[in-house]
Amino acid sequence: MSDFQQPPLPYAMDALKGYISEEQMSYHYGKHHAGYYTKLNRMLKDDPLAEHSLQDVVVASSGGIFNNAAQAWNHAFFWNCMSPASSGGPSGQLADFIDRDFGSIQAFKDQFSEAATTLFGAGWAWLAIDSQSKLSILPLGNADTPLKYHQTPLLTLDVWEHAYYVDYRNERPRFVDGFWEVANWDFVSKQLEEAIA
Ligand code: FE2
Repeated sequence: MSDFQQPPLPYAMDALKGYISEEQMSYHYGKHHAGYYTKLNRMLKDDPLAEHSLQDVVVASSGGIFNNAAQAWNHAFFWNCMSPASSGGPSGQLADFIDRDFGSIQAFKDQFSEAATTLFGAGWAWLAIDSQSKLSILPLGNADTPLKYHQTPLLTLDVWEHAYYVDYRNERPRFVDGFWEVANWDFVSKQLEEAIA
C-alpha cells in the first residue's frame, strides 16, 4: 500500500508574512496539515482505498477517513489559493463568470467574506462551480467540501481557528479581509478552465 504524501508548500514558509507569519504557517502546514496525512495513512493501512487518488478517497469515504482525507485535500488546495505574487483580481472568463453570477467582483468578495466570517465554528468558505457552469459560494463546516456535492472547487479559505489564531487571535474578520491581498487568481482561473473544458 502506498502512503499519501503531503505536497510541499508552493512557496517559502514565510512568503506570505504580513498576512500569515512564518510561525502561523509552520503550525498550520507542519502540524495540522501534516497530521491529517499521518492519521489518514494510519487509518488506510491495508485498506484498498489507499490505492485510489486522494480526491477519490474524499468522494468515496465517510467518518474518520473522510475527515482526514478531506482535510488533507482541502489544505493542499488552500495553499495554492494564495500567492506572494497575487495578481490583484480576477480577469478574463473568471471575471465574466463572477460578474454574471454575483453582479460584480466587489459583490462576490463581500458575499464570500461574509460567508467566511459568519460560518459558525470550524470550516471552509468555498467558491465552486456546478455542472451547469454556475458559480456559488458554499460555507461548509469542519472538513466538508464541494466535492461531496458534485461541484468543483475554485477557491477556498480555511476559517478553522488553527488557521489564524497565532496571528489574529479571535479576530477572524481581519484574517478574512487580508485574504484578498494574497488570493491567487491565476490558480482560480486555471481551476475554472479545467472545470468547463
Ligand atoms: Fe487548516
